[in-house]
Amino acid sequence: MASWPCAARAMQDRRPLCADEDHRVRATILEYCGFPVPELLRRCTVRLAAEYLATDRHAELLRLHASAATCRDTDPVPKIVTVAAYKGGVGKTTLALELAYLLDAPLVDLDWDRGGATRRWGYRHEDRSRAPLLEALTNQRTPKLLRGRGKADLVPSHPEFAVAQPSDEDIATALEKWTGEWGRSWVVVDTHPGGVPSTFGAMNAASLVLVPVQLATNSLNALEGMLEEAADYPIMVVPNMVASVPPAIAVRRLRELAEHWQVQVAPPVSNSAALPNRQQRMAVTSLDPTPARLARYADELHGVAESVRTYDTG
Ligand SMILES: Nc1ncnc2c1ncn2[C@@H]1O[C@H](COP(=O)(O)OP(=O)(O)OP(=O)(O)O)[C@@H](O)[C@H]1O
Ligand SMILES: [Mg+2]
Repeated sequence: MASWPCAARAMQDRRPLCADEDHRVRATILEYCGFPVPELLRRCTVRLAAEYLATDRHAELLRLHASAATCRDTDPVPKIVTVAAYKGGVGKTTLALELAYLLDAPLVDLDWDRGGATRRWGYRHEDRSRAPLLEALTNQRTPKLLRGRGKADLVPSHPEFAVAQPSDEDIATALEKWTGEWGRSWVVVDTHPGGVPSTFGAMNAASLVLVPVQLATNSLNALEGMLEEAADYPIMVVPNMVASVPPAIAVRRLRELAEHWQVQVAPPVSNSAALPNRQQRMAVTSLDPTPARLARYADELHGVAESVRTYDTG
């Protein structure tokens, strides 16, 4: 067993396992799970596999994966979609709320600001005695999801998350574990603007990082800064609040950035005058019939969700 931590570290570092480590990993997984390594690695991320293998509990956890594998044909690997941007106010939360509803995904709110997804969903921490996000992270439990009509299931944030957020590594591990335990195909994470640990943790755990950007100089500058630091993440840029005639210079710059950094661009989402003052808590895309003033926005959000579903994580 001496080589387990070493093998785990290698997997975490994406270093190829040496022959001996590789042999032990494969033999043990086969013994416990009855299926070969690539299958396990498709079913959980490399990070989780590494963590499991490094613990004394690896046998028990691998057995859990083995039982999950019995329904592998009908149970695709869940995917975490993190909505993040270095710049504030570009539309992360609005996109996260709608996308989570469209993907039937739990929404994890990692932003502690008052204007965040939690408040807009209709949850007021002042009226509650518990803090599900903080308690789940502290007690290493999977949070129970809050349910509501016409909106995504939610893990609400809390103002104290601003000072009580764990390391990026711990956030990534927690999100991956919760995602596995919720048993849903998708999980959407909304984040605080900028490069705080919880945002990087959520990006590390993600199969896809959605980055809304406005076709304006400041927003494109922020996108460029983000790509310079983080282009190795699986990023899809979402042009948001796009004017009916967007400035040609901004369109060209976005195209150049996407080509230079080899990131995909989702279909654009128009500027919808009805959104900023909207008080309703249900997702726009849940409304039936869709109000005429929001119809175009709803259609475009369906387009973004389709791009997410068909994004090739390679
Ligand atoms: N497509 C859109 N058309 C018009 N307004 C929009 C659109 N998307 C978002 N908005 C509006 O822009 C404002 C900022 O959106 P939102 O809160 O989603 O941004 P954010 O990136 O999450 O902000 P923060 O960085 O502060 O968390 C809100 O008033 C929202 O209603
Ligand atoms: Mg926000």
